[in-house]
This record gives sequence, C-alpha cells and structure tokens, in this order.
Amino acid sequence: MEKKIVFSGAQPSGSLTIGNYLGAIKNWVELQDEYDCYYSIVDLHAITVPQVPKDLRSNTLKQLAIYIACGIDPEKSTLFIQSHVPAHTELTWVLNTISYMGQLSRMTQYKEKSRKSEENLNAGLFTYPVLMAADILLYQTDLVPVGEDQKQHLELARDLAIRFNNKYSETFKVPEPLIKEFGARIMSLQDPEAKMSKSDSDENGYILILDDKDTIRRKIKRAVTDSLGVIAYNDEQLGIKNLLDMYSVFSGESIEEIVNRYEGKGYGILKEDLAEVVIEGLSPIQRKYDELSKNKDYLEKIYKSGAEKAEYQAMKTLRKVYRKVGFIPR
Ligand code: TYM
Repeated sequence: MEKKIVFSGAQPSGSLTIGNYLGAIKNWVELQDEYDCYYSIVDLHAITVPQVPKDLRSNTLKQLAIYIACGIDPEKSTLFIQSHVPAHTELTWVLNTISYMGQLSRMTQYKEKSRKSEENLNAGLFTYPVLMAADILLYQTDLVPVGEDQKQHLELARDLAIRFNNKYSETFKVPEPLIKEFGARIMSLQDPEAKMSKSDSDENGYILILDDKDTIRRKIKRAVTDSLGVIAYNDEQLGIKNLLDMYSVFSGESIEEIVNRYEGKGYGILKEDLAEVVIEGLSPIQRKYDELSKNKDYLEKIYKSGAEKAEYQAMKTLRKVYRKVGFIPR
C-alpha cells in the first residue's frame, strides 16, 4: 500500500524558535516512518518581508542543518528549498485566479502583518496563503503538521482544492491539518498573550533552538508570570500555563504529573527545572547542528536530491492542472 503524504515547511527568516520546534518540527520527525514526508524551507515566503540577501542564503542553509539536527532523516523524508521547484510559483498563479480577495483580506496573519509593515504592504503578503496552498496541493498531501497559527491558512488550502475540483473535476487531494493539543501555540516569555515569534523585537520573548545554556536559563528566569504564586494550569495564569506546556512537551510528562510534583513550590524552582529540561532537549540537536553546519557539501547534496524528488512529484500535479485549465501542452 502506498504511504500517505505529509507536507510542511518553515520560513528561513532568522533562527528557529522552540515554538517552531514544539509546534511543528518535533511532530514532523514523528511522522517520518508512517508517511511519505516532504519538508521544505520556504524561501519564497520569506521575501514577503524585507530580507538581506546574504543572510537569507545563510539562514536557508542553516535551517536545512537544523531540520536534520532535529531528527529529520534525509533518507526517509524529502528535504528541499521551495524556490528550487518552480512548480510552486506556477501553481500559485493558477490558484490566484480562483482565490477571492475577500477571503484573503480576512486572513489574520495578513491583517497583523499589514498593520506592522505599512511601509512594505506588498502584494506578496496578500497572496502568501495562496503560495502556501500551492505548496501543499502540489504533492497531493493528506496531512499538514503545523502550529495553531497556520490553521486559517490550511482552511484556505482546503477551500481552494475543493473549489478547483468542483470547477474542473477531481484534481487535488483535500488536505487535513495536524495540530497537536499541546505545544501548538507556544507563547512569548515576555507577553504570554502573544505567540512566541522569531521576529519579536525583544529577544527575551523567545528561545532559539540554538541558544546556549546560559541564555536559556536567563530567558526562562525572566519569563513573565503572575502574582498568584500557585503552580496551576489555567487561563488566569497564562505565563505559568505556557511554561507548563513547554515542560510537558519537552519532557514527555503530562501536565497533571508536573503540576502535582510542584504543588506548594515556588515559580523560581519551576523555572530552574524547566530551563534544565529545555537544555537537555536541545543539547543533542545543537551538537548535531555544529557537526552538520561545517559540512556544506553534504547539505548541498541533500537539497539537490530533495529538489529533484520534489520536482518530479510536483510536476505530475502541475501538468494535470495545466491540462484542466486549457493550456496546450508544450
Ligand atoms: P513559520 O515559518 O512561521 O513557522 C513554522 C512552523 O512553526 C509553527 N510555529 C509555532 N508553533 C507553536 N508555537 C509557536 N509560537 C509557533 N511559531 C511558529 C508554525 O505554525 C509552523 O507550523 N506559512 C508557514 C510556512 C509554510 C507552510 C507551508 C507550512 C509555507 N508553506 C505549507 C505548512 C505547509 C509559516 O510561515 O510558518
């Protein structure tokens, strides 16, 4: 029996945070044996916000090394750079022609980003979710493991698949999101009402996968909590809730077990222990990353063979789409 298909990606717009790791990459690793997985570094998405070209290049390679260091096995999964497979931009164009302006303008991420970057309110930011739909639909994807913030974009991808299928006949698989109960929305350490994000101007708000031990300890120690002084998991104590989420996903223990163990204890000790749990979770990744990042030839081999494999699959779908919309085959 053929394996079902998984597709996901992350933008190379700086270093990845433990939000990206817990909400996405950690789950990608778990799917590799059961599914045929495609994991992309979405550089086309990254240029919707200003980038320094040489940094984008180095961040792209760095991200490939991080994927592998986190446990994505290039022998099992297809790892590739989005811009290496032109079918992504080609399908985006076709999908643009069936995307409604109204629906795109209701995308939360677009509304937020357009508020923040008024001076660079470019058309790419607006059609960004259409490119994301193309990424997913090109591979006849069954399952898309993402964090909570991508849910609305996934809905759009599903809508576009259904709309195209209805208009032209069955062409795309309609994908399902995979959003885990815990870890899908890691919050900023400085503002537990905002998502942890690598674009945060306050670096105390996020922990990077590659942060060193002292930085991790310092950032967790400074994490904003509350004045109730009770370790409990509820929406009145969003800071503590966030720390418990991280603790649980990194350690594999249930929230209940952790809360019971810390009954009557102070926030300081919880933070100290959490820092060690995070350090322990990230250390093997960082060691592997240090090795990989020196081996540019190996990374090049991976992204080249990944692009070939991805292109082969993507072109099958694109040829079908071009035929259905009425283009003459070349
Ligand atoms: P990006 O690059 O912002 O994030 C990559 C993945 O990390 C998840 N994530 C989080 N999860 C939990 N807590 C957080 N604080 C947190 N921050 C980020 C995201 O949900 C995402 O899964 N548009 C996408 C990239 C993309 C994509 C795709 C994803 C492009 N094409 C096709 C899936 C399928 C994005 O900007 O993710």
